[in-house]
Amino acid sequence: MAYPIQRLRRLRENEPLRRMVRETALTPNDFIYPAFVIEGQGRREPIASMPGQARLSIDLLVKEALEVRDLGIPAMILFGIPAKKDERGSSGFDPDGIVQRALRTLKKEVSGLVLITDVCIDEYTSHGHCGIVREGRILNDETLDCLKAMAKTHAQAGADMVAPSDMMDGRVAAIRGELDRAGCVDIPIMAYTAKFASCFYAPFRDAAGSSPQFGDRQSYQMDPANKREALREIDLDVEEGADIIMVKPAMPYLDVISAARERTPLPIAAYQVSGEYSMIKAAAQAGWLDENRAMLESLLSIKRAGADIILTYFAKEAARLLQSRPV
Ligand code: PBG
Repeated sequence: MAYPIQRLRRLRENEPLRRMVRETALTPNDFIYPAFVIEGQGRREPIASMPGQARLSIDLLVKEALEVRDLGIPAMILFGIPAKKDERGSSGFDPDGIVQRALRTLKKEVSGLVLITDVCIDEYTSHGHCGIVREGRILNDETLDCLKAMAKTHAQAGADMVAPSDMMDGRVAAIRGELDRAGCVDIPIMAYTAKFASCFYAPFRDAAGSSPQFGDRQSYQMDPANKREALREIDLDVEEGADIIMVKPAMPYLDVISAARERTPLPIAAYQVSGEYSMIKAAAQAGWLDENRAMLESLLSIKRAGADIILTYFAKEAARLLQSRPV
């Protein structure tokens, strides 16, 4: 039975009708807002390649967190930018490191917001890699010790959830074991499960000063060509005890999000990364795209593909728009 009996335009006739049959809805509950924390007092350093985003000192981060919470966004993910870097990324697992101190302050001053931390040493290493380096190679098992220490100090400082983004094999199980031994059995792990070696992280690396000083991340992050391998990563992270799995970046990998949705009943997060954000910002600034519509359409596509949670630099702007005009 086709045309003229079937006319799909019947249900597109007007706005209330379209709303009635709309399959996907965005709400501020879907978002996690990423934030960069730096040393100092009253410091706000705008990030040139990410218009609207800034590195904040802890006191200003508190204000930001209150704003995020009051917009109805349930969670924030913290990235630390330390004053000192070394070969092992030691400032990343110092109990008095920048993220650990930010957590203690946020915990005291902000309630009703889930505090997630990115667990990875690249922001803290002098070479910018996500693992311990020896003779130009990134060592897997040696790196796990750093990640364990980092996750534990984050949890002990007040993190409500940890999110390993390093892509070392076995890190979810290693972190789970470490958290459990430290008595943090109720701290969930959101694993960056299918994290691809993508060019779309460039503005973030500019923001965090974490570009690798030699080589690239292709020996640990995934090949953008591989979807079946993403399914293997999912199976392993689920087995190792991940509570939420993530696909990253988001929009160039909607097929992977959709495949992940089929593969596991776990909540699925997708990271709309810095490059995805900056592309929309840049096109809008040039007058080539309507920024608000591009923002909401991109977020909607990620949700429609199967993501339950979206990490996005647009979280605050999108939440504000959704309050006045639900999509
Ligand atoms: C690693 C990390 C990166 C991002 C999140 N965690 C950078 C990388 O893997 O090079 C990128 C996020 C973004 O581009 O918005 N700590």
